Amino acid sequence: MAFTLPELPYSKTAFGDTISEDTFDYHYGKHHKAYVDKTNAALEKTGLSSPKLSEVILHAKSQGDNGLFNNSAQVWNHSFYWECLSPDGGKPSGELKDALDRDFGSVDDFKKKFKEEATGHFASGWAWLVMDGDKLAITSFHDADTPVAHQGKKPVFTLDVWEHAYYLDYQNARPDYIDALLDDAINWDFVAKNLDGKGVERADQDG
Ligand SMILES: [Fe+2]
Repeated sequence: MAFTLPELPYSKTAFGDTISEDTFDYHYGKHHKAYVDKTNAALEKTGLSSPKLSEVILHAKSQGDNGLFNNSAQVWNHSFYWECLSPDGGKPSGELKDALDRDFGSVDDFKKKFKEEATGHFASGWAWLVMDGDKLAITSFHDADTPVAHQGKKPVFTLDVWEHAYYLDYQNARPDYIDALLDDAINWDFVAKNLDGKGVERADQDG
C-alpha cells in the first residue's frame, strides 16, 4: 500500500485567473505529488504497518523524523487545502456564519483578521481557522507544521501561504492572493462541516 495524490474536486481550469492552470500544474501536479512520493519512499523505515496518513504525521513528530514529518504533513495540508477551495465561491451561511459572528464579530471581521494572519506570517507556512475548545481561533503554522500535530487545535479552514501557492499568478503580492480567494474561491460548505471537529479525517487516507 502507498499514499496517493488525491483527485482534485474540480477542474484545473475552473478558477480562471484567480488560480491558473499553471499554478495547479506546479502546486498540485509537482509540489503536492513530490510530498506524496517522498512520504512513500520514507515509509518503509518506520516499521508501521498500513498506517493512516495522520498516524504517520504523529509518528514522525514523536520520533523527531523531520524529513518524514515535513513530507507527510504537507500531503495532509495540501489535501485539506484543495477541499477548502471552490470555483463557485459564495459566502458563509447558517451555523458557520453564526460561529464567525460569535467569535470574530462578523464575517467581514473574520476575513480581516484571517488576512492579517495570512499576510503577516513570515516566510513559508499556513494560515488556519481552527476549533480551539468550543471556540474558533485564527492561527498560523510555519513550513509544514499542521494542526494534525497540535492536539486541541482542530482544523476548519486553511490557506497555503508558501510562495509556490501564489507566485505564478500574483508574484510577490500575497495580500492580493488572500483577498481573491477569500472573496471568490472558498468552499464554505466544506469549512462548515469541519465545525464538527472532524476536519483531520477529511484529508486523511489509508497507507
Ligand atoms: Fe503548497
